[in-house]
Amino acid sequence: MNTATEERKVIDFDLPKFGKISTAHAWASVPNEPSQAERAELKAAIAAELKARDAALVAHYYVHPDLQDLAEETGGIVSDSLEMARFGRDHPAKTLVVAGVRFMGETAKILSPDKRVLVPEMEANCSLDLGCPIEDFATFCDQHPDRTVVVYANTSAAVKARADWMVTSSIALPIVRHLKEQGKKILWAPDRHLGGYIAEQTGADMLMWQGSCIVHDEFKGFELAELKKQHPRAKVLVHPESPREVVAMADVVGSTSQILKGARELDATEFIVATDNGMMHKLRAQNPGKVFIEAPTSGKSATCKSCAHCPWMAMNGLRNTLAVLKSGTNEIHIDPAIATRAKLPIDRMLDFAVKAGITASRGAAAVSSAQTGGIGPA
Ligand code: 13P
Ligand code: SF4
Repeated sequence: MNTATEERKVIDFDLPKFGKISTAHAWASVPNEPSQAERAELKAAIAAELKARDAALVAHYYVHPDLQDLAEETGGIVSDSLEMARFGRDHPAKTLVVAGVRFMGETAKILSPDKRVLVPEMEANCSLDLGCPIEDFATFCDQHPDRTVVVYANTSAAVKARADWMVTSSIALPIVRHLKEQGKKILWAPDRHLGGYIAEQTGADMLMWQGSCIVHDEFKGFELAELKKQHPRAKVLVHPESPREVVAMADVVGSTSQILKGARELDATEFIVATDNGMMHKLRAQNPGKVFIEAPTSGKSATCKSCAHCPWMAMNGLRNTLAVLKSGTNEIHIDPAIATRAKLPIDRMLDFAVKAGITASRGAAAVSSAQTGGIGPA
C-alpha cells in the first residue's frame, strides 16, 4: 500500500536471546501528507465506504489525527489498546478497520473470528512484538514451567497462545496484584520497563523477557529533570513503557487512556508528556487552555530513533485506509488453532476487567506516591 515516493526507514530494535540483547532491524515507511483538499476528499470517501460496507474504524491514540477524528465522526472509536479490543468485539459491524499496529488487528480478529478485520498497513509492527519471537519465547516458557505466563498485548497471536494471561497497560497492575495474592510466580514478556514497574509496585516475583519499545525507551531521565526545572508547576504524565528513572518523576503513570484521564483531572494547567506524541491531538482537544510539552527523547549529542513517534503507527494514513476498504486487501488471517488458544488469555483479561469494574471511562490509572501516597485511580 505504499507509494514509490514514500520514505522508507530502517528501524533498530532490541532482540533479546539467551540472556543477551542484540540489535535487529525492521523497516517502516512514512506516508506523504495529502494536501488539504485531498484530505477532505479522502475523509469523505472513507466515511462513505465504511457505511456502504458495514464497517467500523477502530483507531489508536498514536495514529494520525485525521484517522482519530474520522474514527469518532463515523461511529468508530479512538482509544487505548484495551478499549480497542473490547469495542471491536462488541460492535455489530461485519468489518473492522484497525488503524494501529499489527497486534491490534490480530487481537481484534482473535476476539471476533467471524468479522473481517482489515489493517491499512500489514507491515505496521511493534518493537515489542518483533523482539519476542515465538520460538525463543516458547523455549523460555518451557524452562520455567512453574511460572504463570503473563504477556503484554503487544505480542503476536502465537505468543499469546503460549500465555495464561494477556494484559494491556490499563489493567496489568491489578491483574498481577491478583496473581500475586494467589501465590503465583510470574513469567512476564516482553516489555522490561513495564514489567519492572509492575514488579516494583506489586512486589510480585516476575521473571522478565528483556524487550523494549523504541518510542518510550528513548525518554531520558536527566533531560526530563532539566525540563521540570524550567516548568516547575508542570505535572508529568508517563506511559510505563518508559525507563525507570522517567517513571520515577511521574505524577501519573498509566496507559494512554489513563494519561488522558490524568490531564483532565489533575489540578494543573501545564503537563510534560512522556509517551508517543500522537497523544497530543486528544490531550489538546480535551483540554483547551492547558499546555502540553513533549518529554525529551535525547541529549544534545544524541540522536533519537523514534523521536517520540512510533514509525509503525505513522504508517497508517488516509490513503491506505481508503485503499484497503475498497479492495478488501490486508485482511488479518490467523491459524484457527492458534487463534482459539490465544483467545483464552485475552478473555481472562476481559472477564477480570468486568469483575474488577474496570470500564473504558474509569480505567485504573496508577498515580505516583507523590500524588496519592500509593497506587489508585487518578
Ligand atoms: P496503550 O494500551 O496504553 O494504548 O498502549 C499501547 C502501546 O502500544 C503503547 O506504546
Ligand atoms: Fe510498539 Fe512502542 Fe509503537 Fe507502542 S509505541 S506500538 S509499544 S513500538
